[in-house]
Formats: sequence, structure tokens, C-alpha cells
Amino acid sequence: MPFVRRTTIHDLWEMKKRGEKIPMMTCYDYTSAKTLDEAGIPIILVGDSLGMVVLGHESTLRVTLDMMIHHSKAVSRGVKKAMLVIDLPFATYSSSDLPTSLKTAGRAMAEGCAQAVKVEGGRRMAPVVGALVASGIPVMGHIGLTPQSIHMIGGYRVQGRSQEAAERLILAAQALEKAGAFALVLELVPAPLAEKLSKMLTIPTIGIGAGPGCDGQVQVFHDAMGLFEDFLPKHAKRYANLAGTMRDAAKKYIEEVRAGTFPDSAHSFDMDQTIAGGTGAQVPRK
Ligand code: KIV
Repeated sequence: MPFVRRTTIHDLWEMKKRGEKIPMMTCYDYTSAKTLDEAGIPIILVGDSLGMVVLGHESTLRVTLDMMIHHSKAVSRGVKKAMLVIDLPFATYSSSDLPTSLKTAGRAMAEGCAQAVKVEGGRRMAPVVGALVASGIPVMGHIGLTPQSIHMIGGYRVQGRSQEAAERLILAAQALEKAGAFALVLELVPAPLAEKLSKMLTIPTIGIGAGPGCDGQVQVFHDAMGLFEDFLPKHAKRYANLAGTMRDAAKKYIEEVRAGTFPDSAHSFDMDQTIAGGTGAQVPRK
């Protein structure tokens, strides 16, 4: 197999230096990963949003490390070029328990076949980032709206709108960069603040609901492809309507089976007529 070079954290830093925007998208399965990789996406995030858009939970809190690893492995089998980042799930890492955090990240990287991990949280997460980076694990930070803390935050709302909250986010970003994070997701952050952070930091910022001034953008696959129809957040854009396409295809299939027009001869198999006539044997599936 020819060697294909994967995107690395160094490529991302170079992209920021060149002013080249960084597209990232979430992904949770082999087939979609193959499609995204072939389309040329430089970073794929196996996000714990899978708890909502794939598993139908009301938040990301039900997602376990084993679930993350299961999906990350599947994604990794479809990816040749993109960098694969895996979310560490809720309550599997903490600054008050660095050995457990390291064990979680080690399993996520080794068993999930990922090149980096992502952790949610501001300044309090800097010791975790430092410990993981010191062990050779690249870490992407995630500040602003951090869905794993939804019950502390009280709702999915924009963060950093007041002077005090904005200052807290600036301090968090600086602390995470200093601790060694290679990039930062900014979720639901006012566009002017996200732009300021992007200019202030040397590491790339990847925005979701954080305006055009970020160094990159991330979207949830099921939102972007129009697969998840329960709700569409304001910051999400539908680039396709795959749920509609799938519904139409399913309706056509149901109609054809009911009408007896599927399968036709093009989707069936022949056999030796003398045997077929004589024994009524089953036609094997190839
Ligand atoms: O889990 C996820 O999909 C994420 C993105 C929203 C950044 O963390």
C-alpha cells in the first residue's frame, strides 16, 4: 500500500501561519469517515456528540470511553490522510486525578487509533493538558460552551458575553496554550471575542458558533449533512438533506417490494435449468 502522510499538529500550525483556514468535521463510522477523508478534510473529530446524533441521548453525558473507542476504531479504518482526534468523555479525566486522566487518554489513543485527544474545560483543565502533553499525547482544548458541563452552565447558550466572562475565557485560552494544547475549539463564543482570541494565540482556534474570525471551523456531521432533524442549532449549516434523500429512497424500496418489481432479474441469480427445474433448490447468494 502506498504511504500516505497524515495531517499532523505541525501542519495545523503551518496552516495558521499561512492564514489557511482549517476545516474539521465530526464523524462516527467507517463509511462516512472514508467519504470525508476522500473529500480532503484535514481533521476528523470523533466527538462525544455521537451520544446525541447517533445514539439518541439528550446530552453527551451518557457516552462512555468504551463507546468512544468503538466508534473511533471504526472511523480510523476509513481514514488514510486526515488527523483523527478523539473526545475524552464526561468524567473520565480531571485535574484532581491525573493518573486516571492519563490512563483514559492512553486507551483513547491506543485502542481508538487516534492521533490526538480533546478535553473540555478552561483553566482548571491546564494540569490535565500538561500531564498528557508531557506523556506525548497531543491535546486539543475546548472552551466556551462545554457540553459535558451542561448541568453547571444551565443551558446551551453563548459564553463570554459579559466583560467578566470574556476575561475568564481569555485567561483559559492562555492557560491551555501555555500547558501545551496544540489547538482550541471555541464553541458558542461571540464572534469578536473569538477573533481576538485567534489573533492572540499562536495555536489555531477551531470555531463552532464562534464566527468567521477563527483559524478553522468544525461542524457536526449529522447537522452538516442534514441527517439529524430533531433540531438545528443556529450555528449549524445544512450542506445536504440526506435524511430526506434516505426517506425518499426507503419509500421507493418499500413500494417496489410491495409491487413485486424488486428484485428483478438484474438483482437475482440463475442456475442450471435442469437442476432448478428438477429439485427446486435455493439459489445461493454470491
Ligand atoms: O462532540 C462534538 O461534536 C464536539 C464538537 C462540537 C466540537 O465537541
